[in-house]
Amino acid sequence: MLRVGVMVSGGGTNLQAILDAMENGTVTNARVEVVISNNPGAYALERARNHGIEAVCLSPKTFDSREAFHEAFLKKVDEYDLDLIVLAGFLVTIPEAMIQKYRNKIINIHPSLIPSFCGVGYYGLKVHEAALKRGVKLTGATVHFVDEGMDSGPIILQKAVEVLPGDTPEILQRRVMEEAEWKILPQAIHMIANKEL
Ligand code: GRF
Repeated sequence: MLRVGVMVSGGGTNLQAILDAMENGTVTNARVEVVISNNPGAYALERARNHGIEAVCLSPKTFDSREAFHEAFLKKVDEYDLDLIVLAGFLVTIPEAMIQKYRNKIINIHPSLIPSFCGVGYYGLKVHEAALKRGVKLTGATVHFVDEGMDSGPIILQKAVEVLPGDTPEILQRRVMEEAEWKILPQAIHMIANKEL
């Protein structure tokens, strides 16, 4: 049974997709042991509690230094003896020590077809604003391993989504979530849990 930790910062729709997929059998041999957020108001924490999953908030703002937060963050994660860490809309930089200790055990969902519209400054709606500004006809989502760079680790899965006339960043974001993110993130976890990767 793959022990999974999910890191969140916002609404948690990707977390919900993971939990639903585990419940309906789309994802097997994996279990979410803990959900950790930097944001006490993240609805994702509520989603975890509703599923009887430990929901932990670790806010950088409550630590005297970034180093102290990094140390506490890694210590907390280590408590759960995780096989896989899933970044599902997590807006905090992963400490170097955690990347080293959990190399090839941290995956992230990014709302574009990497290498397009990724890296510093490309997160949330900004990604879709850039895609619309560039005028691409296809965008999508990418699941990749996390390394020391930003959105630069080995790509695991991608799924393309059409950009339609009249799309706003919000409409496009929703379509990318529904048609791509909520499918390929659970799929990647299933592949890892069943040694298909
Ligand atoms: C998603 O758009 C995801 O692609 C990005 O952050 C957002 C998270 O949304 N990484 P949610 O918290 O899973 O609803």
